[in-house]
Amino acid sequence: MANPQLYPLEVNATTKEPFLRLRNHKNIILTPPRHDDEDALIAALNDFAIADCLSGPPYPYTRDHARQYIDKINLESQTILKQLDDAKSLPDLIVPDNCPVRYLREVKENGSEVFIGDLGMMRCMHGELMGPDGVDWENKKKLEEENNDIPVGDPRIIWSIGDFLVTSHHRQGIMTDAVQTVLHEWAIPRMKVRHMWVSAYTSNDGSVKVFLKNGFKIIKTIENHHEAKGKMRGLHLMEWRYE
Ligand SMILES: CC(C)(COP(=O)(O)OP(=O)(O)OC[C@H]1O[C@@H](n2cnc3c(N)ncnc32)[C@H](O)[C@@H]1OP(=O)(O)O)[C@@H](O)C(=O)NCCC(=O)NCCS
Repeated sequence: MANPQLYPLEVNATTKEPFLRLRNHKNIILTPPRHDDEDALIAALNDFAIADCLSGPPYPYTRDHARQYIDKINLESQTILKQLDDAKSLPDLIVPDNCPVRYLREVKENGSEVFIGDLGMMRCMHGELMGPDGVDWENKKKLEEENNDIPVGDPRIIWSIGDFLVTSHHRQGIMTDAVQTVLHEWAIPRMKVRHMWVSAYTSNDGSVKVFLKNGFKIIKTIENHHEAKGKMRGLHLMEWRYE
């Protein structure tokens, strides 16, 4: 029998891998990252249409980058799955540190699964915006550490989301559905997420719309926030609160 602590994740009968099916796109699932995702990740993050919207990953994106990153996030997923496994005989559902599934895969009619993107949750990495006095780069690290130190399950934590989808799958409502699914199936009920900040470049209408459609509101717009990939970027800060 599957571990009840995985609820509402399902488990692949053959591979035993847990997954979460999107609410509306039933042929798309979220799973833990896999080591054989390297090629697909390299291709996606070397697509400038994607890379230009992301501040985190380097560009060009090399095999070493992909290997190190997948090692890191795979370990994070496996750590959460171990937490859930260790708790399997407890009577109540535990509050895990994060979501163990994040890589989006399209399940084809023959059962094969194709990597199409990523939706990761993390503690907010905009410490420079957490203080009372506008943009405060000096206290960025300290404020992020304070947010990181709040115990899991505490409603004061400011969570965030980072995401991308391969360009072949844009504008089909997939990321809107993915954010809705992760938020309502896992983040709210299992992690007790109550407050989120996400950011998007002011040029990124698609990302802004995905979050607006999920109940986020733009609370701040900072022109000239930082330089990335040779360009000065403006940022929309968007907030969501549990009601
Ligand atoms: C941003 C991104 C994740 C959106 O994913 P998606 O699955 O294509 O978005 P959806 O199909 O759910 O679109 C949601 C809405 O935004 C609109 N939209 C999507 N892309 C758009 C774009 N480039 N310009 C304007 N509107 C766009 C859609 O038409 C839809 O609006 P509608 O419901 O009124 O028709 C995707 O474009 C992407 O991966 N971009 C590159 C990486 C990135 O920007 N990541 C986010 C960083 S903050």
